[in-house]
Amino acid sequence: MGVGKLKFEDKIKNETEDIYILALESSCDETAASVNKNGLEVLSNVVSSQVDLHKKFGGVVPEIASRKHLELLLPVIDQALEEAGIRFEDLDAVASTYGPGLVGGLLVTLTAAKTISFSLNIPLIGVNHIAGHIYANFIENPDIEKPLICLTISGGHTDLLYFENLRGYKILGRTLDDAAGEAFDKISRFLELGYPGGPAVEKAARSGDKTAIDFPRADLGDSYNFSFSGLKTSVMNYVNNEEQRGNEIDKNDLSASFQEAVVDSLASNIIKAVKEYDVKSVVLSGGVAANQRLREVISERIEKYNLDLYYPKLELCTDNAAMIGVAAYYQYLEHDFAPLSISADPALKL
Ligand code: KG4
Ligand code: ZN
Repeated sequence: MGVGKLKFEDKIKNETEDIYILALESSCDETAASVNKNGLEVLSNVVSSQVDLHKKFGGVVPEIASRKHLELLLPVIDQALEEAGIRFEDLDAVASTYGPGLVGGLLVTLTAAKTISFSLNIPLIGVNHIAGHIYANFIENPDIEKPLICLTISGGHTDLLYFENLRGYKILGRTLDDAAGEAFDKISRFLELGYPGGPAVEKAARSGDKTAIDFPRADLGDSYNFSFSGLKTSVMNYVNNEEQRGNEIDKNDLSASFQEAVVDSLASNIIKAVKEYDVKSVVLSGGVAANQRLREVISERIEKYNLDLYYPKLELCTDNAAMIGVAAYYQYLEHDFAPLSISADPALKL
C-alpha cells in the first residue's frame, strides 16, 4: 500500500486470546455500533433507528438517511464504547458493513472505520451485511448443531444456504425478482397499511382469514429459487378487479392470504432442502424472520424431521451492529482484513 502501510501484523491475536471488535452498521435506516468480545459475547449493541423520520415518505429516503447517519454515528460509537466499558486503545479491530445497502449510508460507517483503523493501527474488517444477519443467530445459540440450512430473508435478499460448519456456506437458491421483505413492503404500500411493511401486513393478517383468497405460489421446478413478483401482481389484480366490481376489500383477509402465500413458498423450499441435505438445524435470519406466522409454519413442517429451528431474538433480527461484529470475528480468525482502499459496494452479493 506504500505510504501509510498499516503495521498491525505483530498485534494480531489468535483464538486463545481475548479479541475486542468495534463494529459499525448504517447500510439502511439504523445507525448502529457495538463492541463484541471473542465474537459471540456482545458487550454493547447500540441502535439508533430513523424509522420515524422516514415513515411519512413511506420508505427510506437515501439522502436523508445518510445525513442522519453522519449526525448520529459518533454519539452512537461513544455510547457503544461506554456501555462496553472499553476504550479505543483496547480495541483489536474495527469492522464496518461495506455492502449491500444504500451507498450514502455505507460510506458513513466505512469511512469512520477506516479512520479508526488508520489512527489506532488496528485491522479493518469489511463485512457483508447479509453474512451479518446470518451470524446474528449464533450470538444466542453458539452451540447450534451443524450442518444446517439457513434461510436469510430481508428487505433486499432471500437466500437459502447450506452450512457444513460456520466458516463456509453453499448457496442453494435465491430470489429471481423481489426479496420476501420487499414483497411485504410493496403490498403494505399498495394497501396503505404503513411503513415498515412487514410488521404492518403481519398485524393486519392477525385479524384476517388466511384461506380467504387463494393466491398462487411460484412453481420453479427443481430449483431452490424463489419468486414473489407474480404474487404481488396477483394481489394488485385482485384488488383492481374487486374495486371495479364495486366490492369492498377486506385488507385483513388480503394481508393474511398474501402472507400465507409468502410463508408457504419459503417453508416449501426449506423442506425440499431438508429432504436432500442431511442437516441438524434450520436457521432463519433477516428482518422477515421476525414474522410469527413464518416461524409457526416452519416449526410445524420441520417437526417430523426432528430438527431444531433457530431465529435471532427480535432486536437481533433487524439491523444492528452486533451481528456485523460476530461475522467480523470469524473473518478476523481467518485474517480476512480489508485494505484502506476498500469501497462500499451497494450491490454486494453473498
Ligand atoms: O433485515 P432487515 O431489517 O433490513 C434489510 O433489508 O437488510 O429487513 C427489513 C425487512 C423489511 O422489508 C421489513 O418489511 C421486513 O424485513 N420485516 C418483516 C417483519 N418485520 C420486518 N416482514 C414480515 N413480517 C415481519 N414481522
Ligand atoms: Zn438488514
